[in-house]
Amino acid sequence: MTNDNCAGGTATELLLDVRKATFGYGPVSIVRNLTMSVRAGEVVALLGANGAGKTTTLLGIAGVLGCTEGSVSWLGHDATAPLHVRVQRGLGFVPGEQAITPQLNVKDNLRIGRGGVAGALELFPELKPLLRRPAGLLSGGEQKMLSLGRAIAARPRLLLVDEISLGLAPLAVRRLLSAVRQCAAGGMGVVIVEQQVRLALEVSHRAYVMRRGEIVMEGASADVSRDAHLVEAHYLDRPVADNADNTGAGNTGAGNTFSSNRAAGAGGNAHG
Ligand SMILES: Nc1ncnc2c1ncn2[C@@H]1O[C@H](COP(=O)(O)OP(=O)(O)O)[C@@H](O)[C@H]1O
Ligand SMILES: [Mg+2]
Repeated sequence: MTNDNCAGGTATELLLDVRKATFGYGPVSIVRNLTMSVRAGEVVALLGANGAGKTTTLLGIAGVLGCTEGSVSWLGHDATAPLHVRVQRGLGFVPGEQAITPQLNVKDNLRIGRGGVAGALELFPELKPLLRRPAGLLSGGEQKMLSLGRAIAARPRLLLVDEISLGLAPLAVRRLLSAVRQCAAGGMGVVIVEQQVRLALEVSHRAYVMRRGEIVMEGASADVSRDAHLVEAHYLDRPVADNADNTGAGNTGAGNTFSSNRAAGAGGNAHG
């Protein structure tokens, strides 16, 4: 897997446009000042340590959690439609926790998806000999293949995938992520949430790194890879530079320009 054919560099359709958004639970804001975009054909990685706010971000993008400040725009419309309407308009979601029905067999699990059985088998022929098996008896990797295959068979325009690698062997993860990459080559936009930095950077075109609810690095994955040690410092919650205490709300690192520590605190450095 390489970062060639980078759809992020071309002007394909803007699927998701999040601007200075705040997401949280009731009165508690978890993700603040989030600015993020996804274009058709692009795999975007959202990286960060456990508890950084990645799942909260996906729930905000999906509209499960309301946006209390800023905006989430989805295919040019303000994303205020209910979740089922957004699914009809092309939103796909593969949650981190078990998404399949364990007592139903593989085929029935695929049947209850919007995309049916054939599309999923086309993407993952490995599931064919397993169709009659109760999904709960599949290996972890096969279960993820099932939930990912089912979501992709519905032909979403934007697919959100939460920590598909959790608990899986590297080979299984590679298989799943290369299928994701293949779908993006066909025009789908994808957000993958990952804790595994190197793997996610390998498969994505662009990446955002989140720390304590704020984006602290973003850029082309190839560029972020070169500074993987910075990403890891954010994971370990270490300061990464002299002015590394990112408490503010600056948002000047736009587009594909690699930027680290872009948030300038209130009264702090403006860029330049
Ligand atoms: N339902 C909830 N209610 C209140 N706080 C929550 C809820 N879910 C998650 N949080 C808090 O939000 C923060 C970010 O969580 P999460 O988005 O799950 O992080 P990540 O996916 O990066 O591990 C954590 O501090 C977590 O305790
Ligand atoms: Mg999570």
